[in-house]
Amino acid sequence: MTQIASRNLAPADRLRRLRRTPTLRRLVQETTLSSKDFIYPLFVCPGVDREEPVPSMPGVSRLSVDRLEREAETLAGLGIPAVLLFGVPEEKDPYARHAYASDGLVPQAVRRIKGAVPDLVVMTDICVCSYTDHGHCGVVRNGTVDNDETLGILARMAVAHAEAGADIVAPSAMMDGQVQAIRDALDKEGFTQVAIMGYSAKFASAFYGPFREAADSAPQFGDRRSYQMDPPNAREALREIERDIAQGADMVMVKPALAYLDIIRRARERFDHPLGAYNVSGEYAMLKAAAQRGWLNERLAVLEVLTAIKRAGADFILTYFAKDAVRWLREEG
Ligand code: PBG
Repeated sequence: MTQIASRNLAPADRLRRLRRTPTLRRLVQETTLSSKDFIYPLFVCPGVDREEPVPSMPGVSRLSVDRLEREAETLAGLGIPAVLLFGVPEEKDPYARHAYASDGLVPQAVRRIKGAVPDLVVMTDICVCSYTDHGHCGVVRNGTVDNDETLGILARMAVAHAEAGADIVAPSAMMDGQVQAIRDALDKEGFTQVAIMGYSAKFASAFYGPFREAADSAPQFGDRRSYQMDPPNAREALREIERDIAQGADMVMVKPALAYLDIIRRARERFDHPLGAYNVSGEYAMLKAAAQRGWLNERLAVLEVLTAIKRAGADFILTYFAKDAVRWLREEG
């Protein structure tokens, strides 16, 4: 009696057959992570021989320019194709004057890295929140961030980075028309080969908290909701990406990644441009914190998360886990 019952319950299709051994699983694996998928963010601070750990981002430090050569060599040795530079200057004023200084921190950093490892792709963040004394991503007029006045500053900043040898500039200020303003300025100055990566769909997220500690860029009043996107809006994110592409963005990005996997998926389906996702500081911090308490297996959790971002449709991932991830992937063979 029991035998007949179990035969009746036997499934026709057994999906477990292909999960039986590691090799079988590898054979049918749909999504693969590799070192070339990662872009590593770097925070550049003033001074000499300085390495300042960021408390809320264990394993991440701000580095002085002279420390970048060794870091660039390490990254290239791991097969990581690109870095994204953020300047953390001491000089701050209402108009972000240091942001476009030709001998500023980021131009110095670009020259150093390009001098040491010319093949490493150098991207620079184009936003002024680390350079303004009020911490907003643009010039403040009458209590609000003035879009059009900020465009000129972003354009000058991009040109200063291009002059230093940046391969890609990445506007993240969420000002309307920023990609167009930067493309025009770059072309006018002869930098027709410098590419633009739009932080096209950048949401006003709580997950940027640790970054603001790292970059000393927290707004001193109010918040960023009048320029960064409202988290409930998905269709608007697609409009942002569409506008950036129309203005000349060569690559586009969704940020943050984990709470926005649906946006990554929809962007992948709609657009053919190279698409990135930024696995932001808060996403890094929460995994680190849980791992430090022994509540999660860090290696498994991190690789699962990065795989999910890629499976959602990202071609590349900006992540503070880049170096660890490559080492773990190498161990797996
Ligand atoms: C600059 C900028 C931010 C991030 C990247 N570029 C912070 C912000 O918008 O407040 C966040 C990156 C991260 O959290 O890892 N505007």
